[in-house]
Amino acid sequence: MRTQIGIVGAGPAGLMLSHLLHRAGLESVVVENRSRQYVQERVRAGVLEQGTVDLMNETGVGGRLGREGLVHRGLELRFAGRGHRIDLFALTGGKAITIYGQNKVVEDLTDARLAAGGRIVFSAEEVSVHSLDSESPSIRFRAGAETVEVQCDFIAGCDGFHGVCRPSVPAGVLTEFDRVYPFAWLGLLAEVEPSSEELIYSRHERGFALHSMRSPDLTRLYLQVARDEEIGNWPDERIWDELQRRFATHDGFRLKRGPIVQKGITPMHSFVVEPMQYGSLFLAGDAAHIVPPTGAKGLNLAIADVRVLARAFSEFYTSGSRAALTGYSETCLRRVWKVQRFSWWMTSMLHRFEDENAFDQRRQLAELEYVVGSHAASQSLAENYVGLPMD
Ligand code: FAD
Ligand code: PHB
Repeated sequence: MRTQIGIVGAGPAGLMLSHLLHRAGLESVVVENRSRQYVQERVRAGVLEQGTVDLMNETGVGGRLGREGLVHRGLELRFAGRGHRIDLFALTGGKAITIYGQNKVVEDLTDARLAAGGRIVFSAEEVSVHSLDSESPSIRFRAGAETVEVQCDFIAGCDGFHGVCRPSVPAGVLTEFDRVYPFAWLGLLAEVEPSSEELIYSRHERGFALHSMRSPDLTRLYLQVARDEEIGNWPDERIWDELQRRFATHDGFRLKRGPIVQKGITPMHSFVVEPMQYGSLFLAGDAAHIVPPTGAKGLNLAIADVRVLARAFSEFYTSGSRAALTGYSETCLRRVWKVQRFSWWMTSMLHRFEDENAFDQRRQLAELEYVVGSHAASQSLAENYVGLPMD
């Protein structure tokens, strides 16, 4: 098999890249090691920045998003028993976020690629990448008894944090920057009407909690738990009681309860690799960086990377210039580090840290008071939350 750009991973980064390349008249093959059903049912992020929504609309994959996405013009910060609305729309000159599950983004992009005759190989086994330092790299995988080799001009490593592309770069080339947080999020999906029209980020002495949603009858909730916590320790009743405590307000907020249809624990981690490229390999999305989910940025950052990458490939094939490809990592990293900072800041402002003392707790509350009380501070949160410019 031969293609121009071989893409490893059919998550948001890989699929959007393949879609953008197709629109630019370029060929790609996407190789994914999971089944189509597994990829489309995985519950993950839910907040799309304005720029991500605009990109989906501009490139013809925004139909269902327009019908089913929930546009939010504000969010709530809750602490010391009170809620404070951050008016994202007013503070950013008319920008908003849209609630739309990552699994739907993946489904919409997969449908669009397949309808356009795009090639996506699901359930590929033993995926590996080769000759990255040459101009003819390749992706190899097993499909049943057969070994398949995809000859490419370039490879895009869109295979997430645990993928094969980043570890295939020779030792010493990449520098890793990371921070592991001493906690995790227990996330759940419940078949119940959301208890609030907008997202609630709640800081509480017992730990952070987040109220989100997927639709008018599906609520998504998160609880800060210990890093090594096991889901077996959290029967549904215990989860609901703990959530109620952390969202409680002086005016008697009640969280609506319903059947929990999915739950899981995700540890929190900040990670960046520099540079995001080596030879003919370009890393994008979680393969190159991950953020703690408190800023709702992981998926949006993945989309921002591949937008830059698709343009760089397009420039190369139309003009022969490698300038944009050479500058890919530098262009992306400028934005990546700003988003890392924002995600770290939201995380540190809202979570309970085991080693914090009474001073730290007072300082954390003062920071929240400042953010909700100062126009400048609210605006800073808002412009980061709706999304910094794409490039
Ligand atoms: P992924 O979505 O990880 O896609 C990578 C793809 O590559 C996957 O389909 C994977 O199966 C495939 N792959 C992996 N290894 C190989 C291989 N060897 N060969 C071929 N294919 C391979 N962000 C938020 O903002 N909010 C959240 O609530 C949230 N929850 C999350 C929960 C979990 C468990 C995880 C892991 C992430 C979560 N994120 C969340 C982050 C967000 O979902 C990611 O930032 C986003 O998925 C990044 O997209 P991506 O395409 O770069 O990577
Ligand atoms: C979600 O809806 O899954 C979600 C929302 C906001 C976040 C993280 C996750 O910060």
